[in-house]
This record gives sequence, C-alpha cells and structure tokens, in this order.
Amino acid sequence: MKLCKTVAELREEIALAKAAGKTIGLVPTMGALHEGHASLIKAAAMENELVVVSVFVNPTQFGPNEDLDAYPRTLDADCKLAESMGADIVFAPSPAEMYPSEDMTWVEVTGDITKVLCGRTRPIHFRGVTTVVSKLFNLAQPDHAYFGQKDAQQAEVIKRMVKDLFFNVQLRIMPIVREVDGLAKSSRNTYLSKAERAAAVVLSSSLETAKTLFDAGERDSKKLVEGVKKLIGDEPMADIDYVEMYALPGLKPVPEVLTEGQYLLAVAVKFGSTRLIDNVILEVK
Ligand code: PAF
Repeated sequence: MKLCKTVAELREEIALAKAAGKTIGLVPTMGALHEGHASLIKAAAMENELVVVSVFVNPTQFGPNEDLDAYPRTLDADCKLAESMGADIVFAPSPAEMYPSEDMTWVEVTGDITKVLCGRTRPIHFRGVTTVVSKLFNLAQPDHAYFGQKDAQQAEVIKRMVKDLFFNVQLRIMPIVREVDGLAKSSRNTYLSKAERAAAVVLSSSLETAKTLFDAGERDSKKLVEGVKKLIGDEPMADIDYVEMYALPGLKPVPEVLTEGQYLLAVAVKFGSTRLIDNVILEVK
C-alpha cells in the first residue's frame, strides 16, 4: 500500500490507474479509523481495482468552538487498518496541501437540506464537507465513493451535490456499524467517560424502540419522535440537541401520518462535551 501526502503524488497514482483502465473506489475519512470505516474500505475493495482511502481532518467543516484540535489523529494505525481491509493508497494531505490559498472556492448545497438537523447547530459544517469531498472527487476521480449511513444528513447532502454538479461517481451508502450494545461506532466515542459511554446506549435503544413501534403499525410521526425524546430525556447524562424526523430523499417535512415512503428518524445528543448522532430509516411500503 502506498501513502501519498501530496496532491501531485496522488494525481500520479490516479493517472497510472486510469491508464491501466482500473476502476477506482474512494473512501473519504477523517482518520481515527474504526470498524465502521473498515466496512467501507472492505466494500470498496470488493468492487474496485484501486482503493483510495483519504485521511484528512478537514478544518473547514469544524465550527470555531468544535473539536478540530482534539480530533484524534492516528495515521500509523489508520494505514495499517486501511491496508488490512484492501486499500491500495492512503491519501493523507496536510491542510495547506488541500487549502493552498486563503482565497478559496466553496462548494455549498443550499436550502433546508443543510439547515435542518446538524445544520442548525453546525451552520458551516456541510459547506466544509461538500467543498472537501468535491476536491477529493476531482483528485481521485472515483467510479464509486463510500460513505456511512450514520452520517445520514451528510449522505443526503452529498447525493444532492453529485446530482447538481454532474459528478460522474456512484455513491454507496453503507449500513451503520454498531458496538455489541448498539452504540453506533464513531471516532468521537473515544471522548466518552465510562459513565457517558454507558449512558450513550440510550441513542440506539430509543431508536430501536421507535422502530419496534413502527413495525407494529405506529404511523403517527409525532408519537414516534416524542417517544424517542422521552426515552433519551429520561437519561440524566443526555443533553438533547435534536430528535427529528424527515422524509427521504432530500430531508423534506414529514406528514402527521406516515404514508408510503422512507423516513429518517435522527438524533443528536451531547454527553458531557461529546456530541453523538444516530438514526434509523423507517419505510412504509
Ligand atoms: O464523514 C466524514 O468523516 C467527513 O465528513 C468526510 C466525508 C471525510 C469529509 O471530511
């Protein structure tokens, strides 16, 4: 496996792969790789002849009071995991390599899709994500790009961007990978104290309860949302940012009574200073 730290090095590798007619899979990450990322890399390796994993803690998607400096940086371990899952290239550029000038081009998806859910408390977040993902798409020229369903809003925003900007890439949104007790795998789980870690199980368990009610026939969207709010609210260590439901695709408002279609029930909750997200998709057939 090759480690590329510059745009020029990556471009050279991509040019060689393209000349050889290889299909390319891109797995964009911010590093601190865990089993969630491993599943993306594995899926990419099964479907492509060249797999590029980017490891870049993207400064433009962090707000001024967020965890940019504290975000775990574990490049050696990331390279080992990426290689063991079938990656051919790890692209780990510096911020200056990705953002060479203070004058810069933004790629921004506008509208409610980036303003609801995480967009409300993280107003610049998705603009940073779409800007860096555009750069990565242009550099790696992937046939397929892999993202996790845990970041459901991010997936919807990137789908929108790919459609609007005619990016020639197929998106693969892969299922959430969970710990044995249900907590969604996240690089931020390492911030949790023992007590917070135990309390955080309420995210998946409350969504699981909502899914059970939905499967038993509950179609009242308010009842489903309020049920999750109540369960999380009952956990003293949990500080709710949001519990909300939107229609898919595109995060549109939900009707009071759920009719045919797919719905995203999503939560963001703080445990101490750590903000975690999780979600479930409910489908009325
Ligand atoms: O999901 C992430 O880890 C990041 O938002 C991404 C897509 C790698 C962009 O920095």
